[in-house]
Amino acid sequence: MLTVKELTTTPSLELFSELVELLQDAVTDGASIGWVAVPGTKDARDYWTRTLEAVGRGERRLFVATDEHVCAGAIQLHLPVKANASHRGEVEKLMVHTQYRRRGIGTALMQSLEKVGRDAGLKLLVLDTISDSAAARLYARLGWQRAGEIPDYARSTAGVLEPTTVFYHRIAH
Ligand SMILES: CC(C)(COP(=O)(O)OP(=O)(O)OC[C@H]1O[C@@H](n2cnc3c(N)ncnc32)[C@H](O)[C@@H]1OP(=O)(O)O)[C@@H](O)C(=O)NCCC(=O)NCCS
Repeated sequence: MLTVKELTTTPSLELFSELVELLQDAVTDGASIGWVAVPGTKDARDYWTRTLEAVGRGERRLFVATDEHVCAGAIQLHLPVKANASHRGEVEKLMVHTQYRRRGIGTALMQSLEKVGRDAGLKLLVLDTISDSAAARLYARLGWQRAGEIPDYARSTAGVLEPTTVFYHRIAH
């Protein structure tokens, strides 16, 4: 059974490779998570290495949906360093492997992140995502509020500029 856990230590080589594959799978499927072309294995490995370094510095928190054999999804909570922003966090890089979608894993990752954020004293979460996407539907279903839409914000994997919706979610404390 898949469970969500926070990665606080260096992952096993197997899990690290699965994170690389998860990222490549998501972008191959058209996910708008920062890449236009699918990152090669070296680029994807470098990305996760930088991410894990940021986790080590306490700048972000990383959660994975996994069991002993597979990493099916991941999500990150970016913690702003600005003094006036210590009450809020930004949700980034939610991705669920294409073979594991529509099983509630994205929802479980979001709910785990939200609980950890609340327990850490955060009061506000923010994120942005391509408008009218599966992710946008997921966030709305979880009670996130749409703050507004920015046209032509991000280039899709098809090379087209697409609108992004900014969401926020107050988390009770
Ligand atoms: C968005 C994403 C994380 C959803 O993960 P998931 O594990 O499939 O999501 P869930 O199973 O928890 O879905 C929860 C709800 O979200 C909505 N949803 C999820 N995928 C959907 C889709 N393809 N089409 C329409 N609605 C969708 C549905 O309301 C769904 O509930 P339902 O299955 O009961 O209808 C996944 O599609 C993904 O990784 N996409 C690519 C990466 C990406 O776009 N990330 C967002 C970055 S901001």
